[in-house]
Amino acid sequence: MQSNQKQYLWWQDGIIYQVYPRSYQDTNGDGVGDLRGVIQRLDYLKWLGIKAIWLSPIYPSPMADFGYDISDYRGIWPAFGSMADFDELLQAVHAAGMKIILDLVPNHSSDEHPWFLESRSSRDNPKRDWYIWKDAKADGSPPNNWLSVFGGSAWDWDEKTGQYYYHAFLVKQPDLNWRNPEVEKAILDVMRFWLDKGVDGFRVDAMWHMVKDLQWRDNPRNPDYKDWMGTYEQLLPVYSTDQPEMHGIVAQMRKVLDQYDQRLMIAEIYLPVHRLVAYYGVQEKEAHLPFNFMLISLPWDSRQIAAAIDEYEGVLAQDDQPNWVIGNHDQPRITSRVGAGQAKVAAMLLLTLRGTPTIYYGDEIGMRDVPIPPHEVRDPQGLNMPGKNLSRDPERTPMQWDDSINAGFTQGEPWLRLDRAFRRHNVKAEKSSDISSLHLYKKLIELRQQEPSLMTGAYRPVYSDHQLIAYIRQAEGQPGFLVVLNLTHRPCYFTPTTIRFTGVIVIDTLPEQEEVSVKDTINLFGDEGMVVKLDDWQSVSSNPPHELPVLP
Ligand code: NOJ
Repeated sequence: MQSNQKQYLWWQDGIIYQVYPRSYQDTNGDGVGDLRGVIQRLDYLKWLGIKAIWLSPIYPSPMADFGYDISDYRGIWPAFGSMADFDELLQAVHAAGMKIILDLVPNHSSDEHPWFLESRSSRDNPKRDWYIWKDAKADGSPPNNWLSVFGGSAWDWDEKTGQYYYHAFLVKQPDLNWRNPEVEKAILDVMRFWLDKGVDGFRVDAMWHMVKDLQWRDNPRNPDYKDWMGTYEQLLPVYSTDQPEMHGIVAQMRKVLDQYDQRLMIAEIYLPVHRLVAYYGVQEKEAHLPFNFMLISLPWDSRQIAAAIDEYEGVLAQDDQPNWVIGNHDQPRITSRVGAGQAKVAAMLLLTLRGTPTIYYGDEIGMRDVPIPPHEVRDPQGLNMPGKNLSRDPERTPMQWDDSINAGFTQGEPWLRLDRAFRRHNVKAEKSSDISSLHLYKKLIELRQQEPSLMTGAYRPVYSDHQLIAYIRQAEGQPGFLVVLNLTHRPCYFTPTTIRFTGVIVIDTLPEQEEVSVKDTINLFGDEGMVVKLDDWQSVSSNPPHELPVLP
């Protein structure tokens, strides 16, 4: 019998999990995680139920920005292992039915990359134009006012050749010149190199930075700048990012991927939603998943979040695949941002919204940001802008596996200190607790992957107020699921006026509530979120007012 059910690709119905290799599992005692460590932990990832592993950069690098400064796009950083280790990892991941996504960093290389060494060697070197070189202004100052994301000017003076070069990030991360077709060809070849090996896609770093204004105009001042912000925020990056020419380049990258079978392009882009969705391209000819960071960027406020979800759902074209993120290696961890109770509600939101979720390693066990004493700070963003609490080290600490020495991460001295509470918060302990964060993630993932309604079903907003968000997920011909989330610590009532329903709570952040039947209204504790399997529901134009308790 022919089925007319839509077929979904692996990245449309699967879950992505980000591994920061430095911090995942060390196997050789040098205090730094490695590829063999990821191989060792594949059983865990398989058990958790994720589909794809995104590895932050694994390439040779001076590690000025922990791998986002690449000195060889086709190799493996020796401390992470060898190419043979990578091949073994890839093979093991595929044998387990999973996928691997690599980080691709096309906006800049390391200043130690042979391309840049050549480029800076003389003004007439054939690779001079592979990077962005400009003369000083008459007074010797940089060509324009652009700032580096990591502090200070984005221009660095090269004494030998008497010009400035542009670096959106560190001095040690010169930007490639994407207006030069040779650069485009070189990076597309790098993509082919890894795709030929069998990697399943890329997470493209800093995509919105890749092309710059042709006239190099000054960026305007940001009227909303406050002292506590990173110095980069002083200007609005109007001319240094998100230039229209970018879309042609992404389309070229996509063409390369499309020459292979089911390969994925995720794009790191921090932009307002209407500009973000432009990166899907017309008829989905650009990135498959422009990362949607709104759950990271917005205040944890139910009305703002509900409105943002609806806006995002509203601006997506029919075939654009939504996606959601609540944490990554650049942002404070969700547990530290909203608290442990709310982090569970956030997990429920992440795993029940329509679209592909990406989980940041350790968030599933509720890992917190770890305070790193000033003399141990490693992150250049923290080092370059001290006193602003901008270091990203706190969210990059070693994975907490068990209660043994260094949480089972390393037998050596860990590159970054661990959370002292690791003896309580670790995978092993949480696996055996049915009230743990890990237990909740596992249940949510299992349910999502079993139920077409939650995996790929339509999203229908039901209700939101200053505490609550509620929506229904339903696929055609399948039972619907009502998700009700209290985004505050205080109790509240869910009394929707637009639907009537009966159902059973199948997952709750407070497990005592599970298996309870509910009808039309629900009382929620603070920090409570629930997934209700609906027996029946209907829209009503206006429900009779619910009976609320009358105070004496
Ligand atoms: C974004 C990456 O996620 C971040 O870690 C890095 O520092 C910058 N891009 C520069 O590559």
